[in-house]
Amino acid sequence: MAFETIIAEVQDHVSLIKLNRPDALNALNSVLLQELCAAVEEAEANDKVRCIVITGSEKAFAAGADIKEMAEMSFVDVFTGNLFADVNDRISAIRKPIIAAVSGYALGGGCEIAMMCDFIIAADTAKFGQPEINLGVIAGMGGSQRLTRFVGKSKSMDMNLTGRFMGAEEAERAGLVSRVVPAKKLIEEAMAAAQKIAEKSLLTAAAAKEAVNRSYELTLSEGILFERRVFHSMFATEDQKEGMAAFLEKREAQFRDK
Ligand code: HXC
Repeated sequence: MAFETIIAEVQDHVSLIKLNRPDALNALNSVLLQELCAAVEEAEANDKVRCIVITGSEKAFAAGADIKEMAEMSFVDVFTGNLFADVNDRISAIRKPIIAAVSGYALGGGCEIAMMCDFIIAADTAKFGQPEINLGVIAGMGGSQRLTRFVGKSKSMDMNLTGRFMGAEEAERAGLVSRVVPAKKLIEEAMAAAQKIAEKSLLTAAAAKEAVNRSYELTLSEGILFERRVFHSMFATEDQKEGMAAFLEKREAQFRDK
């Protein structure tokens, strides 16, 4: 599919999706959001793709929802159109692993898209924030919910109430990002992480993703039970036989997603 506001390409087994509205710091207008959803869904359906990386430019992952587009909307417009609900639902429904590679600004909806991914690798230039309060609104795609789960109430309140930005180092310390790398190496490092994931069984990776994500929805005992059931079910796969045989035979496993 040809896109206007993003660039999507498959490198080896990784779909690299680059947000591309440089004049607006990748502000998330409705075209970009629809194209992003379509691109991840295309990657999900493409048998060659085993992992997805979403990134932006050096200056901005995304500076938030497009303020020009939203400024004149009424309550009736956003309520009736259920503004941004489908983005959360469509990205959350992807079963293949998704990495956000963030350089520069990841603000408002930009921070929220990054948090919808399975983990975030940040350049040392990354700046995260939920500055919606400065615009007379609050976060609308998970910034008050996911951010709180990542960094805890105190820091999430600080971010959501003051609208201040959080640098990469603080974000790593707070658990928002999994690692910080030099800006020049961001894509290389994110693609290397994606390649590592692409070498695994896609079946097992999807199961691991599902199990970790359940931890947000369930009590600990229910979550452990869910994990154990999924763990047990792995023994019905060929990839479990192959993975364990390969270890014992001291060779690389050849997973077949079966
Ligand atoms: C529309 C935006 C934009 C945005 C930047 N631009 N952010 N346009 N929506 N969110 C545009 C600017 O208008 C400008 O266009 C161009 O991008 C460059 O931006 P500058 O401000 O000139 O750059 P700079 O001085 O470097 O400042 C960078 C910045 C600032 C600190 C990131 O742009 C900024 O504060 N942006 C808004 C951040 C924000 O409030 N995000 C939350 C949005 S609300 P022109 O044409 O003037 O050159 C949100 C709601 C979430 O996300 C709800 C669910 C999605």
